[in-house]
Amino acid sequence: MTMLEIDYRERILSLKRQNNIIILAHNYQLAEVQDIADFVGDSLALSHCAEQTEADTIVFCGVHFMAETASIICPDKKILIPDLEAGCSLASTINPNELKTWRCEHPDAVVVSYVNTTAEVKALSDYCCTSSNAVKVVNNISKDTDILFLPDMFLGSYVAEMTKRKNIFVWPGECHVHAGIKTEDINNILSKTKEADFLVHPECGCTSSTLYNVTKDGLNRNIHVLSTEGMMKHARMSSSKQFIIATETGILHRLRNENPDKEFIPIKEDAVCKYMKRINLEKVHNSIVNDVFEVRVPPKVAQKAKLAIDRMMSIS
Ligand code: 13P
Ligand code: SF4
Repeated sequence: MTMLEIDYRERILSLKRQNNIIILAHNYQLAEVQDIADFVGDSLALSHCAEQTEADTIVFCGVHFMAETASIICPDKKILIPDLEAGCSLASTINPNELKTWRCEHPDAVVVSYVNTTAEVKALSDYCCTSSNAVKVVNNISKDTDILFLPDMFLGSYVAEMTKRKNIFVWPGECHVHAGIKTEDINNILSKTKEADFLVHPECGCTSSTLYNVTKDGLNRNIHVLSTEGMMKHARMSSSKQFIIATETGILHRLRNENPDKEFIPIKEDAVCKYMKRINLEKVHNSIVNDVFEVRVPPKVAQKAKLAIDRMMSIS
């Protein structure tokens, strides 16, 4: 860390104490941002934390849809994001008009939206879900009801496989970081590390082929499809000493810090989300000092989106 960063760190920590501010950070944030946060977690855990905190202001170090979700859950709190350009390539793959058209083609279907969507798309959805509860949410819907699952096709095909449902229609969206993790990357590392547990995020392009290999070839390997928080938990509980991590590399900071006696190998060193990495200490400091950038969801949109989020929260 540079002297300037140390300075920002100290100032942020003291400002946070003086004002009633909480800093939430996603598992993919830069290490130095994770280190000044009050809580680091996955999308679901951050939503729960936003709901429970007594702080007046939440500085949300994550991407825009996550800050929007916090604002929907806690309309009375001030939600600040340090950089408004922290977007998400996956959330951008579907807009409200596209969803309206899709719904018209399947008028009896229930819409399940991954949390990586804008507030407006959530407002047009029946259920929200995250990577840690998608299977549970879908299992909660009657087997005879058609489901429109959006926007991630790899998570959608994983959910269809796990729930054994044939009536899930999946939107063809993908995250540029996870879609870039291919079967070749996996085969390359798996051939070199025979004992490691293999932890893979369901947004990965390799998820379906990995499941196929496991179920059809009987590959003798401990493979776990997990959300980022699921990976943290697994690493803590497993007796394994070595883990291959197939997700954004920001999570390695926490994995290594919390499990110093274990080894974590990224499947791809360049699996980096440029949106998550837009936030740094200087921007967090600016956010607190200048009270920027507030994320607010129009009340009508927020009320509808909250129904989908509440349905998810009541299941998970
Ligand atoms: P998690 O819900 O596992 O934190 O994932 C969010 C995300 O954006 C993954 O790319
Ligand atoms: Fe969106 Fe992908 Fe970045 Fe997650 S890693 S925030 S899905 S662009």
